[in-house]
Amino acid sequence: MKLKFITALLCIVFGFSEMNAQSLEIIKLPAPQKSGGMSLMESLNNRQSQRSYSSKELTQQQMSNLLWAAYGINRPNGYRTAPSARAVHEYDIYIIKNDGWFVYDAEQHAMLKMGNENLQEHAGSQDYVQTAPVNLVFVADFDRMEVYDEEMKVFYSATNVGFISQNVYLWCASEGLGTVVRGLIDKEKAKEVLKLRPNQHVVLAQTVGYPGE
Ligand SMILES: Cc1cc2nc3c(=O)[nH]c(=O)nc-3n(C[C@H](O)[C@H](O)[C@H](O)COP(=O)(O)O)c2cc1C
Repeated sequence: MKLKFITALLCIVFGFSEMNAQSLEIIKLPAPQKSGGMSLMESLNNRQSQRSYSSKELTQQQMSNLLWAAYGINRPNGYRTAPSARAVHEYDIYIIKNDGWFVYDAEQHAMLKMGNENLQEHAGSQDYVQTAPVNLVFVADFDRMEVYDEEMKVFYSATNVGFISQNVYLWCASEGLGTVVRGLIDKEKAKEVLKLRPNQHVVLAQTVGYPGE
């Protein structure tokens, strides 16, 4: 309790987020590559769900491009590549990899390492999930949605996640990577292992990696 209070106080004084304070390491990503890639029409033509993956890791540059495409900041006012009803931006993207689990910090364009454990077994209930190098978990923070009543929190968070997911689909299509968005994840278990607060909700997950056989 005392530690939590001190952490909160430090965050206010130094102006960094609680997640920053709790992270083991801040992994600054290279700048996203905002030119090149397939044309939008080609990406749309190639967009599809993939359910077989190779274990080949993604490079840091690919992680940078993926996370920026998904939910990065694309304007000076801090708005994102994905729209968000009333610009609430209630999502955090958790990243589950073999070498640990992370949260994407869009302001710093960094991956905050939150733990060293390999949580891939909790990233989804289908076999291919554990073969792939990257699983994203889309977590809605209802504490940021105070402008809405409970029904609208559910509705808008369910709507907003679709845009983030489609950004991932289109970037993966452009990059020649596979992806699939998934509702099949034990949300309560994921909430437990990702140490989420009661008002943070796992909404969907998305697997990313090189296509397998
Ligand atoms: C909200 C949502 C949840 C989904 N959940 C899963 C899932 O848990 N597992 C899975 O393999 N595919 C899942 N999918 C992918 C769909 O099965 C897939 O989009 C559909 O079969 C159409 O194929 P396509 O994406 O290649 O066009 C989901 C898609 C959506 C939009």
